[in-house]
Amino acid sequence: MYVSQTVATSISHEVSEIYWWSNAITYQIYIRSFADENGDGIGDIRGIISRLGYLKELGVDAIWITPWYPSPQHDNGYDVSDFMDIDPEYGSLEVAQELIDKVHQNGLRIIIDIVPNHSSNEHRWFQDALASDPGSHERNRYLFRDGKGEHGEEPPNNWQSVFGGPAWTRVVEKNGELGQWYCHIFAPQQPDFNWENSEVRDHFIQVLRFWLDRNVDGFRVDVAHGLVKAEGLPDAPFQEHFGLLDSRDFPYWDQDGVHEIYREWRKLLDSYPGQRMAVSEAWVNPPSRSALYVRPDELANTFNFDFLTVKWGQESIKSSIDRSIEGMAAVGAPVTWVLNNHDVVRAVNRLEMDFMAADSPKDPELVIETDFFDFQRAKIRARSAALLMLALPGAVFLYQGEELGLPEVLDIPVDRLQDPIWKMSGNKERGRDGCRVPLPWKVSVDGAFGFSANSEITPDQSWLPQPLDWGNFSAEGQENSADSMLQLYRNAIGVRKRNPSLLSSHFRWMGSPDDSFVFTRSEDSSFLCVVTFEVGEPVPPDYAVLLSSQEIEFRQIPPHTTVWLERNGSACL
Ligand code: NOJ
Repeated sequence: MYVSQTVATSISHEVSEIYWWSNAITYQIYIRSFADENGDGIGDIRGIISRLGYLKELGVDAIWITPWYPSPQHDNGYDVSDFMDIDPEYGSLEVAQELIDKVHQNGLRIIIDIVPNHSSNEHRWFQDALASDPGSHERNRYLFRDGKGEHGEEPPNNWQSVFGGPAWTRVVEKNGELGQWYCHIFAPQQPDFNWENSEVRDHFIQVLRFWLDRNVDGFRVDVAHGLVKAEGLPDAPFQEHFGLLDSRDFPYWDQDGVHEIYREWRKLLDSYPGQRMAVSEAWVNPPSRSALYVRPDELANTFNFDFLTVKWGQESIKSSIDRSIEGMAAVGAPVTWVLNNHDVVRAVNRLEMDFMAADSPKDPELVIETDFFDFQRAKIRARSAALLMLALPGAVFLYQGEELGLPEVLDIPVDRLQDPIWKMSGNKERGRDGCRVPLPWKVSVDGAFGFSANSEITPDQSWLPQPLDWGNFSAEGQENSADSMLQLYRNAIGVRKRNPSLLSSHFRWMGSPDDSFVFTRSEDSSFLCVVTFEVGEPVPPDYAVLLSSQEIEFRQIPPHTTVWLERNGSACL
């Protein structure tokens, strides 16, 4: 039996100090799609307040709220026009404070999104820059440059926007003539800041203080690897359009200069009482490179995109776990685990459709053809992946609806698509709306399956339309079903919290048959996690099943299953 075989690999990764973020489960709230309390078909802060009980029962430790700032919403809030206020669509500063306080009263923590790479084109600073002359102090807060060519008619370099098309837009000067260009790595409505300018650095320190003073526990740093650009803004080595997940060497990604910014931020975070933190969204590869963002004097966590984009398979997952743990061990930072977020195809579909990258569906025709999608198989893999992730050492980030097993919505009518990617790719890529459809809370269709407190709102009237069978996935529908995805998450989170070894950083591979893997989280191997792939295998004789992603009959673990085991008599719990 595999448990008595020689240990194949042993990684004992000691995180130097235990902070709340070392092993927390943080639940990402995509505010527009979580819960709508004022009845306009768009989620809001009061909606979040109304669901804190649900989050507590789920067992998460913290919530992360996507941008809630005033915004023209060209990129659902990632185009911020004022970093120190709340969009009236979502609430007000008072309601935000009420949420922060209630989160704490419920024993949870709250982190908010900070978007330092760019602002909205409606931000006062950008409006001032447009109204000012080339070379002015106002323009120097952003990346304005003269164009190439005899009359400056060519963009300053060959950079392409992540969403499609050139990363430069030309402006009309005060004299009515076409003039300089400004850089936007994302949409033209998201001009990039000039982080060489100390005014920009100082402004963000002020912004962080503003929210820290209001008692947030930390920040999720948007595009953390993009703030600093290579000196002289040289051409990129690749001309073609690339997506959000492309982490190749570009002159605007992962420049060494970004780390100085985070060192300064860390000092600020540490100057506040309580444990304040920041988690970086840095799409860089390999994990040893992401580890640089969480060196002891930098940020606290960094999202594990290696794991997020891994394909379903014994070898690929095992090696991603190795890379992740080893990468973070080098700097003594906690590993993080992510299966879903608002930018990638939901795991239910992603893990099943091997051919489909984590990135937004590329071919709008192809993805509407869903006949070949085997939902049963997809569910089996997603359940196994969830239980595997929750057994790994470190911090976990869940994305709303993941606990309900929501699939990607692949057939949103094209005239309802909102993601800027749809237009900017020239209608070639549907974008990320399929993972952002409002949550179903109730079985009944009223109020868009309970998403809206206004029972008149139909599934079609929520800001992104919901599929008509969405009620089957609702929290209410899964509440009392012992084998639902919701119960699997609740049970696993509960076991994890009660089992100190699952909260420790101890991790060791055990020997196992070729098409599965086994690891333990306890020194004495009293707790085991077994993950099978194409071939099932028996439960070892001296172990009892604590939790399993599939039903186990006659002590036989089926294929594509994760099982948590405890040695008989060891009372792990
Ligand atoms: C990353 C965010 O996760 C994504 O949703 C957004 O479009 C870009 N950054 C631009 O802010």
